[in-house]
Amino acid sequence: MSTEKVEIFDTTLRDGEQVPGCKLNTEQKLKIAKRLDELGVDVIEAGFPVSSPQDFQSVSEIAKLVKNATVCGLTRAVKKDIEVAAQALKYAKKPRIHTGIGTSASHIKYKFKATPQEIIERAGEAVAYAKTFVDDVEFYAEDAGRTDNKFLAVVCTEAVKAGATVLNIPDTTGYCLPEEYGKKIKYLKEHVPGIENVIISCHCHNDLGMATANSVAGMTNGARQIECTINGIGERAGNTALEEIVMILRQHPTLNLDTNINTQLLYDTSKMVSQEMGMFVQPNKAIVGANAFAHSSGIHQDGVIKNRETYEIINPADVGVTESAIILTARSGRAALAHKAKKIGYHLTKLELDVVYQEFLHFADARKEVLDNDIHEIMQIYQSKNRV
Ligand code: KIV
Ligand code: ZN
Repeated sequence: MSTEKVEIFDTTLRDGEQVPGCKLNTEQKLKIAKRLDELGVDVIEAGFPVSSPQDFQSVSEIAKLVKNATVCGLTRAVKKDIEVAAQALKYAKKPRIHTGIGTSASHIKYKFKATPQEIIERAGEAVAYAKTFVDDVEFYAEDAGRTDNKFLAVVCTEAVKAGATVLNIPDTTGYCLPEEYGKKIKYLKEHVPGIENVIISCHCHNDLGMATANSVAGMTNGARQIECTINGIGERAGNTALEEIVMILRQHPTLNLDTNINTQLLYDTSKMVSQEMGMFVQPNKAIVGANAFAHSSGIHQDGVIKNRETYEIINPADVGVTESAIILTARSGRAALAHKAKKIGYHLTKLELDVVYQEFLHFADARKEVLDNDIHEIMQIYQSKNRV
């Protein structure tokens, strides 16, 4: 079975930037967009051009700068939004307009105060209008996660008829269970005429910690584009994390799905986005967190020192991390102490190690972590006691 490609649609600069306190200026957006292009993402959602003059400028400059990726601008199903987005994307080599409307019962009733029929019509009209400016039009059904599947299929059918090239099925509130989200994608595949000619896209939020799992369920049911952000940043609990999706596909070849991402740039890109946005990455964050390749318990350290694969499913070098870290704590064993001591020049015999290890445990109990300087101190104590 040949491997199929999954498109990576990065929305760090749009959904990611909606995080309070993470707003970027144009220069910062350009820096990140350049890196995303180098990383190999297929689509860069550069912003929401109608939202502010600065965002218009950012999208427009990103459109000029980006060499490989499609550059996309978000709009509501509103003519003015679509016109402004088209203007901002004028110089893009591959422009895409991302337009759409809320489809769940609460969006229709409270947000739009409209009837379902009006929503269907507005969806079709927005796509058709966007098509007068660009060939590549993505339609989103906001809150698709909580939208009745039958109605969702009708709206999507209208968008496909109007010329949508991509159908985005957002779980806007991060509510769906993976099985439920997967079934939604399957249902649409079976009930939207012409869907075989468009790409189905997953846009999952992480309110219940299921954004990545839901995106995987979407892919295994036929979706071939994932909307995601670096470090999983985004509204509230965030979006699907790009680095997680990419590495899940890389580490599970039996899925027969892969992306174009240069994984060795993942760690560095994570750090860049974190710094530019002033948003720190939690240490236990999968793939890019400071502890993602750190081992601190004796049993794990012993295993990793003997063979990395005992406790690591990813080679850190594959995501741009130089090497796994052995962290010395009071839970570490002799193997880890010997390993770290050797790295800074102490080659201990088994007998020496037994004695030094006792000294080490006193140190370790008094600290959270034993650092290289502490090992030097421990060795000095050992040497003075034993007059080496
Ligand atoms: O979460 C969402 O529904 C969105 C859409 C605007 C695509 O971000
Ligand atoms: Zn979103």
